[in-house]
Amino acid sequence: MKEKLEQIKAEAVALIQAADAPEKLNDVRVKYLGRKGELTAVLKGMKDVAPEDRPKVGQMVNDTRAEIEALLDETKTKMERAIREQKLKEEVIDVTLPSRKNIIGHRHPNTIALEEVERIFVGMGYEVVEGPEVEYDEYNFEKLNIPADHPAKDEQDTFYINKEIVLRTQTSPVQARVMEQGKLPIRMIAPGRVFRSDEVDATHSPSFHQIEGLVIDKNISFADLKGTLEVFAKELFGPETKTKFRPHHFPFTEPSAEVDVSCFKCGGKGCRFCKGSGWIEILGCGMVHPHVLEMCGIDPEEYTGFAFGVGLERIALLKYEIDDMRLLYENDIRFLNQF
Ligand code: DAH
Repeated sequence: MKEKLEQIKAEAVALIQAADAPEKLNDVRVKYLGRKGELTAVLKGMKDVAPEDRPKVGQMVNDTRAEIEALLDETKTKMERAIREQKLKEEVIDVTLPSRKNIIGHRHPNTIALEEVERIFVGMGYEVVEGPEVEYDEYNFEKLNIPADHPAKDEQDTFYINKEIVLRTQTSPVQARVMEQGKLPIRMIAPGRVFRSDEVDATHSPSFHQIEGLVIDKNISFADLKGTLEVFAKELFGPETKTKFRPHHFPFTEPSAEVDVSCFKCGGKGCRFCKGSGWIEILGCGMVHPHVLEMCGIDPEEYTGFAFGVGLERIALLKYEIDDMRLLYENDIRFLNQF
């Protein structure tokens, strides 16, 4: 019996020492100590042992069991520690490595220019409002004094959704929408996308952006308009900038003007940039037509106001000296990264 137990123990020890994973140890446990294991089988054979020898043999079986169990536990602990150490070694973090650079987005030159314009007008107490890009013919044309036979209403110039609805051709309809709300005085700018049935070239696109401006209050005069736009031009293009108001016609303003700024490249002497004239046209403006005020529910005897409309792309192209508008829409990262 003793030899048998020793043989079992020797076998178990050999298997434990050969085990290379915790699961193998478990197999050994089952094979020797389990319910159908070899030591259990020995215990079951006790009935063949002489009664006086049974306590001694029982003791020997238990000792063997304890020894195998102890060796299993110890080996398992060692094995687990080795595994953990290996893992820590593999997952080591080198805190001295330089951090990975996140490539984050970049503001589009249009956005930069818009934020600059907004900064200037918000600084003068203007509110920034928005209107719909899909607009009623009535707001885009009628309420702005643009008669039915005006060329802007031609299908060649305007995208029609149906007879009454168009893609707005200008941000000016926002003027009518704000005036109709009846909250006076008004001091607002309205930036947004507009649409015209134009062929794409270096200075045209079927979709571009404008910034509308509107001021309505008592005693607003053309002097206020001139002063405001002069400040705007100086802020945008530098303190040396001069402005020139040329008489013009817009159906919704009277009188109307176009505004030129002195060329910020040559200071007005004339260069390639201003095509030799010394001046660059930047916007349209005027005193809001009394009939427009009336149509929008404002008494022209009591209130007057001025309005202006700026092309955003034009500002961006001028400010960043970009010579082709198409570059603004291609979104080539190599181009955008420069601003
Ligand atoms: N809406 C005009 C256009 O698209 C620009 C404009 C001119 C806006 C004069 C105005 C204005 O508010 O007073 O050509």
